[in-house]
Amino acid sequence: MIEIKLTVNDRPYTINVEETERLIDTLRSRLGLVGTKEGCGEGECGACTVIIDGKTVNSCLVLAAQANGSVITTIEGVGNRRSPHPVQKAFVEAGAVQCGFCTPGMVLTAKNLLDKNPQPSDKEIRVAMSGNLCRCTGYDKILRAVKIAAE
Ligand code: FES
Ligand code: FES
Repeated sequence: MIEIKLTVNDRPYTINVEETERLIDTLRSRLGLVGTKEGCGEGECGACTVIIDGKTVNSCLVLAAQANGSVITTIEGVGNRRSPHPVQKAFVEAGAVQCGFCTPGMVLTAKNLLDKNPQPSDKEIRVAMSGNLCRCTGYDKILRAVKIAAE
């Protein structure tokens, strides 16, 4: 085990992790942040997306030890039922949530895009969201939601 320090959703943590432990497992199992979903487990689907030091990252591909010292945002740090983030409101308004499994990753990717580029073009939205797969295939509504959030 090794000790690492993380700041997750503005809260500091000092925790012991296995040397080979994936960040997604640390977030879900040690910190109880189960909004981060595991789909493929191999960097293909984006369900496990979190924001690390301002970049969207597949947390299934990162070791917790590699994230030592970093600042992480998970979906729990974006908004909640009582106080949803504008991107979350837009997903609801556009009807962009079906089973919801991909939604946390989609919202984090969209949020990070809009934080950096508040008025993205359709192409920029498509490129930014291209690493997030939706097995319910509601892509038109997802892209519409990102556009609504940008308005
Ligand atoms: Fe990480 Fe699919 S679970 S990219
Ligand atoms: Fe079901 Fe996207 S809403 S996977």
